Amino acid sequence: MAKITMQSPSSRFFYPWPLSLVSCVDQAGKPNIITIGASSICSSNPPTVGVAIGTMQYSLTLINETRDFGVNLPRRDQLWQADFCGCNSGRNMNKFEAAGFTVQEPTKIKAPLIAECPVSMECKLVETVHLGNHDWLIGEIVAVHCDQSILDEKGRFDPTKTDPVLCFWNEYWSIGEKLKSWHYARTEPRPE
Ligand SMILES: Cc1cc2nc3c(=O)[nH]c(=O)nc-3n(C[C@H](O)[C@H](O)[C@H](O)COP(=O)(O)O)c2cc1C
Repeated sequence: MAKITMQSPSSRFFYPWPLSLVSCVDQAGKPNIITIGASSICSSNPPTVGVAIGTMQYSLTLINETRDFGVNLPRRDQLWQADFCGCNSGRNMNKFEAAGFTVQEPTKIKAPLIAECPVSMECKLVETVHLGNHDWLIGEIVAVHCDQSILDEKGRFDPTKTDPVLCFWNEYWSIGEKLKSWHYARTEPRPE
């Protein structure tokens, strides 16, 4: 393998990322949604998630006011709505209404959730890291709402039922096939 060294580094060579919809609310109660590609789980105990939000984004202003946000994970059949929320600003419209999403009332935060998304997490902002043109917002997950359609018959989370969307370069991709389970190298030898 011959690697080429890029002279101008870019974060775009980190791939792929899950498509998520971050929900928030303004002081008058108007809900908003920002489509987010750059996100990650940060810690499992306490459970935290990080999202990168551009410093000029309208949604960032709202989140800084309430200090909380929702992280909603769309399915493949909600891709148009997700893309719509990523190319229109809540400054000019109610994106819940315009995209055809329904507000789900939160239980522990001010920001609303998206009823149609199979997973919605209520997050309280615990830290903001100022990095440049994006802030990295770390939220503690204080409640999770999970649709029964992605649970198995015993009520356990079944990832094969989620049908998530991945951002890969500037495109949307679906997930491929399962390769292995974590830690299989403990029991299987290195392939020849
Ligand atoms: C697939 C996709 C991924 C995006 N990822 C991010 C992101 O990680 N951070 C960000 O600040 N904006 C991201 N955007 C852009 C915002 O979603 C977009 O600017 C949106 O209109 C901002 O909404 P607002 O003005 O209501 O806050 C993304 C857009 C798309 C379509």
